[in-house]
Amino acid sequence: MLRMPDHCHDGRQNVMTLAQLGVCYYPEHWPTERWAEDASAMVAHGIEIVRIGEFAWSRLEPTSGNWHWEWLDQAVETLAAAGLYIVMGTPTACPPNWLVRTHPEILPVGPDGQPRGFGSRRHYSFSSEVYREHSRRVTKAMAERYGHHPAIVGWQLDNEYGCHDTTVCYSDASLQAFHHWLQLRYKTVDALNQAWGNVFWSQEYANFRDVGLPVAVTETNPAHRMAFRRFSSDQVRAFSDEQAHILRQYSKPNIWLTHNFMGNFVDFDHYPVMEALDVASWDSYPLGFLDQGWFSDSIKSRYRRTGHPDWAAFHHDLYRGVGNGRFGVMEQQPGSVNWAANNAEPLPGMVQLWSMEAIAHGAEFVSWFRWRQAPFAQEQMHAGLLRPDAKPARASEEAILLHGDLQQLPETSTRQASVALLFDYEACWLTDIQPHRAGYDALQVAFEFYSAARALGLSIDILPTNASLDGYQLLILPCIPFTDSSLVKRIAASTAHVLIGPRAGSKDVDVTIPENLAPGPFQSLIDLTVVSVDGIRPGERISLKHDNDQFAYRWIEHVDTALPAQWETTDGRSILFGNDRISYLAASVDEQALRELIAAQCVGAGIPTSPVPDDLRVRERGDLLFVFNYGSTAQRSPIPGTPLRGEALIPPASYAVYRKHP
Ligand code: GAL
Repeated sequence: MLRMPDHCHDGRQNVMTLAQLGVCYYPEHWPTERWAEDASAMVAHGIEIVRIGEFAWSRLEPTSGNWHWEWLDQAVETLAAAGLYIVMGTPTACPPNWLVRTHPEILPVGPDGQPRGFGSRRHYSFSSEVYREHSRRVTKAMAERYGHHPAIVGWQLDNEYGCHDTTVCYSDASLQAFHHWLQLRYKTVDALNQAWGNVFWSQEYANFRDVGLPVAVTETNPAHRMAFRRFSSDQVRAFSDEQAHILRQYSKPNIWLTHNFMGNFVDFDHYPVMEALDVASWDSYPLGFLDQGWFSDSIKSRYRRTGHPDWAAFHHDLYRGVGNGRFGVMEQQPGSVNWAANNAEPLPGMVQLWSMEAIAHGAEFVSWFRWRQAPFAQEQMHAGLLRPDAKPARASEEAILLHGDLQQLPETSTRQASVALLFDYEACWLTDIQPHRAGYDALQVAFEFYSAARALGLSIDILPTNASLDGYQLLILPCIPFTDSSLVKRIAASTAHVLIGPRAGSKDVDVTIPENLAPGPFQSLIDLTVVSVDGIRPGERISLKHDNDQFAYRWIEHVDTALPAQWETTDGRSILFGNDRISYLAASVDEQALRELIAAQCVGAGIPTSPVPDDLRVRERGDLLFVFNYGSTAQRSPIPGTPLRGEALIPPASYAVYRKHP
C-alpha cells in the first residue's frame, strides 16, 4: 500500500488496508462555500486521497507572473482539515490563453503542418524550448509553495502525456530537436544513411539538417519513422524528467511522484518515463475503451455495460510492471463517460467491481474521476460520484460499499506470478509503421495472449524485455520484433518454458531484416528460419488440422526447419514448432487455440491451471483470491468454501473474495 506519513497530518494513526480510496476534485469548479461540505462527504465515502490542481493554471497565474495562490491554499487547507491527503497535479497539460497568445510557437503542429490551437487541452509541443521553460517555471512555483505541506503526499506530473495524439509533433522546434537527436544517435550522416538504407529511392542526405519529418508523397522510410517515434518518445521523457527533478528538489523527501498513464496507449515508451517517478498510475475507463477499441461488434454488445473482462486487468498488470511493482488507478470510471462514440452506462455493481479488481491486481490506490459531474463545458455528460446537482449518483453508493468490503479484508501484498508476458512499446510502433497486414497491432496481440492465459485462471506479470526473468516458469513473447542479445541470454540462462509468437526477432534496430532472417537472435534458442509471410485478409480463417473449430488468421509465416510441426493448418502449413523448452508459433490463431497452446505450455512448465467459466475471472493477491463476474447472470464461484466477502453464487457485476488455502 501507499506509504503515508507515519502519523496522519491530523494525528490519526494510519489504518492498514489493502488500498486507499481517492477521488479527483476540481475546487475551482465550485463555490468556496461548498468545499468543506464536499470534503466531509468524501470522508464519509471512505476516501482518503484527493487529486487536485492539474488543470488550474489559468486560475493560478491569470496573467504572466501574477500568482493567485490564495484559493488553492484554502482548498488544500479545507481538504487537510477534513483529514484528507492530497495528490497535487502540475498544471502543464493546459497552458493558459495568455501564454499561447504571447508564444504561439509552443502549440503542437499536426502532420498537415497546421498548429493545433487553443480551446481544449494538451496544446503544447514537448519539443518547444519556450514551453519547457514555462513548464519548469510553473512546476518550481508549485513545488516551492506546496512541496512541504504535510497533507500533500504525492505529485502528479502533468496529465496523460500524449493524450489526443500529442506525443508526436511536426513543429519547427520538433524538427530542430530531431536533428540534434539524430546527430547524437548516428554521429555521422553517412552512418544514418547506411543504417536507414537511404540508397533506396535516392534518399541519401548530405547533412543531418536536411532530414525532414516523415511526411512525403508516399510511404516514408520505416527507419525514418521509427527514429521519429523514438525521438518523440524521448522528448516526453525529457519533459517529464525535468518536472520530476524540480519537484524532488523543492519537496519533502517522502513525497511520491506519479503520472497518470492511459489505457490502450503506447505512443511513448512508459518504462523510461517511470525511472524518475515512484508509483505508476493509470486512468481506467473500461466502457469508453471497449467502444473505441479493436473488439468485434459482438464482443462490444456483449460487454457493453461491463467492459471486456480482461481489458482493465491487462492494464493493471501492465502498469504494475511499468511501476516496477507499484501502481494505482488515478482515474476510475464512475458512470458513463462522454468521449466514446457510444457511451453506455455501467451495470449496477460495475464501479465497485472495477475498483476491487484494480486492488486485486495490486493497486495501492483507486481514485474515481470525478467527485461531482460538471454541468458545464466539454465533460458535462461525464458522470461523477455526485450528480451535477450534488446529489449522490449510483457510484457513490458503490464507493461506500467497496470501502466497507476493504475494511473487512486483511492487508496482503502482491507476489510474483509464475507466468510473465513480455511487452515492448517499440513493437507497437513497428506494427503501426509496418503492419504488413491491415490492423496488425502488437498491443492487441499482447492482449490476446494475455486474455487466453487469464481464461486458464492464471495470474500474470507483464514485463519489459529488459526485466529480470528470475523465478518465472513460463515466459510469453506475443510480439517482440526487436530484440537484443541480452534478452536471448537471459532466456537461455533461465529455466522457464518460453512461448514465442510470430514476428519475433524479425527486425534489427533500424527496421532492417536481420542477416539470418527472423527470428534473428532467437535462432540460438530454437532452430528455425522464417522465410516468408502471408498476410491474411480480415474475415478469412484457415482451420487447424487437429481441431477444425480452431483456426489461423491474420498472419501465417512460412518456416524452414528440421523440427517436426506440432500444429498444421488444413491447407498444409506448419505453424507450431518446439524443442524441450522453447516453442515458436508461426501464425495468429484464435482464442481457443491460444488457450490450448498456453495450457500445454503450463503443463510443460509445471504450472497448474484451472480454466474459469465464461465471464468469470480470478486473480490472486498474496493470501487472497478474487473472483469477478463480468456476466449478466449469477454464476457459481469455482473456488470451494465460503468467501470472506461476497457470495459463492456471485451475482452479475459482482465479486467474491476468498482467503487462499495453501
Ligand atoms: C481522462 C482525463 C481526465 C478526463 C477523463 C474523462 O483522459 O485525464 O481529465 O478528461 O479522461 O474520462
